[in-house]
Amino acid sequence: MAKNGVMAGDPLQPSLLGEALAAGDRPGLEGLQGSCQTCRRCDLAAGRQQVVISRGDPSARLMVIGEGPGAQEDASGRPFVGRAGQLLDQMLASVGLDSEHDAYVCNVVKCRPPDNRKPTAQEMAACAPWLALQIAEVDPAVVLLTGATALEGVLGIKGGISKLRGQWHPWQGRWVMPVFHPSYLLRNPSREQGSPKWLTWQDLKEVQRRLEQDQPPSPTL
Ligand code: URA
Repeated sequence: MAKNGVMAGDPLQPSLLGEALAAGDRPGLEGLQGSCQTCRRCDLAAGRQQVVISRGDPSARLMVIGEGPGAQEDASGRPFVGRAGQLLDQMLASVGLDSEHDAYVCNVVKCRPPDNRKPTAQEMAACAPWLALQIAEVDPAVVLLTGATALEGVLGIKGGISKLRGQWHPWQGRWVMPVFHPSYLLRNPSREQGSPKWLTWQDLKEVQRRLEQDQPPSPTL
C-alpha cells in the first residue's frame, strides 16, 4: 500500500478524472448523466436498453459499488433493483441504513454485459472515468465494494474477496470495505454463524459503526 492509500495497480487513480473532464471543467453528476447517455467507449453500449448510472442520495456518506447492471437494471435504468438489489436493501436496512437516503448506489460498468457475464478489463477501464467522477462528486466517507468485480474495478485487486471481505482499506482519504456480492448470498442463503450471509451482516454492522465514527483514515495510511 502506498502512503496516500492508493494501491499499486489502483485502476481509479485521480488522474482518470482528467478523461471525464474532457471539456476542461468538471461536468458534475448532471453532466455525467448526459455523457453516459451518449457514451460509446466500449461495445457494451450496443446492447444496452438503458445506461444505469445511480440511485440513492448523491450527498450520502456511503457509496455502494456493484459489478454492472442485470436485466432488470437495464430495463429500469436503476442499479440494484432486481433480486440481488432487494437483498442488498434488506441487509442494509438490518443495520439501520436506507439505500435510497443513506447511500449512493452505482456500478463499475454502467451498461449491461451480455448474459450477465463479468465485464472485461477493457470494459471496466472504458467506464472507469465515469466511476471516478461519481466518487469525486459524491465524495463518500465510506465505500462498500460488493463482490470481486468491484474490488478489482476500484482497488485493482484480482481475486481474494473471501479473504479481503470485512477488512478496511484506506483509499484516497476514504474507508473502503469489500463484502460478498448479494448474488452470491442469494445462492448461499444460510444465516448460520460463519456463513457468507452472517459474515456480510457482521461487515455491514462494521460499516454502520464506521459511518457513526466519522473519522477519515489517517493521511499516513
Ligand atoms: N448486480 C450488480 O452488481 N449491480 C446491479 O446493479 C445489479 C446486480
